[in-house]
Amino acid sequence: MFPEWVIQADRDVPTGLQFHTLRTMPASIFSALLPIHVPQVRTILRSWFARDPALVIDATAHVGVDTLNWRYLFPTSPIWAYETDEATCQALSSNVSGKDIDVRHDTCLHLTLPPTEDVVTSIVHRARTVLYVDPPWGPSYAQQASVPLRLDGHDAFDWATSYLDKGVTDVVIKVPFNVQAWEGPYTVSKATVYQPSGRVAYGLWRIQSV
Ligand SMILES: C[S@@+](CC[C@H](N)C(=O)[O-])C[C@H]1O[C@@H](n2cnc3c(N)ncnc32)[C@H](O)[C@@H]1O
Repeated sequence: MFPEWVIQADRDVPTGLQFHTLRTMPASIFSALLPIHVPQVRTILRSWFARDPALVIDATAHVGVDTLNWRYLFPTSPIWAYETDEATCQALSSNVSGKDIDVRHDTCLHLTLPPTEDVVTSIVHRARTVLYVDPPWGPSYAQQASVPLRLDGHDAFDWATSYLDKGVTDVVIKVPFNVQAWEGPYTVSKATVYQPSGRVAYGLWRIQSV
């Protein structure tokens, strides 16, 4: 379970995500979307996606809090959730049960770089497919001058943008305040999520083909 202060925050300003019912893992308190950030994240995602996307792929779903938030925002979008860790997958499956979310693992299959044909074939021709990536930042990211984002041994930006010419129209990636500089031949929109104190919590970047 989430600690009481998280559950209380969700009681104070209800997100509709039912934090008190969610299964967690030890890393969830550092990894998952928290109630205090939900209103800002919703404002950002609504400004970027006026209509329900044709498909949302949550590539790093963990226990599914962001996944549930995508479902809340876009009730008609098909949603696929990927998570590599087996125990975390079980919590994810339980948390998203009954929400029409497709947990894409039996054996913790996951998205790969380069994209595999079966995934590509499933997402092409859907127009407006969003790939959401919330990569692990590492336990000591805040102590580093700049943080390289990695997934599956690849640069997470390269990993995610490799899907842009494979049917994905928008990548949304969650980045720490000190993310290592990255540039590519894409259109990048950046938004900031703040702590209640006014400090930067993290960024959300939307990356699209030019
Ligand atoms: C920061 S957490 C995501 C938190 C999530 N957005 C939430 O709100 O609950 C990152 C997750 O990505 C998972 N992960 C790492 N590499 C992955 C991969 N290649 N494919 C899928 N999941 C991966 C980790 O096991 C971890 O649970």
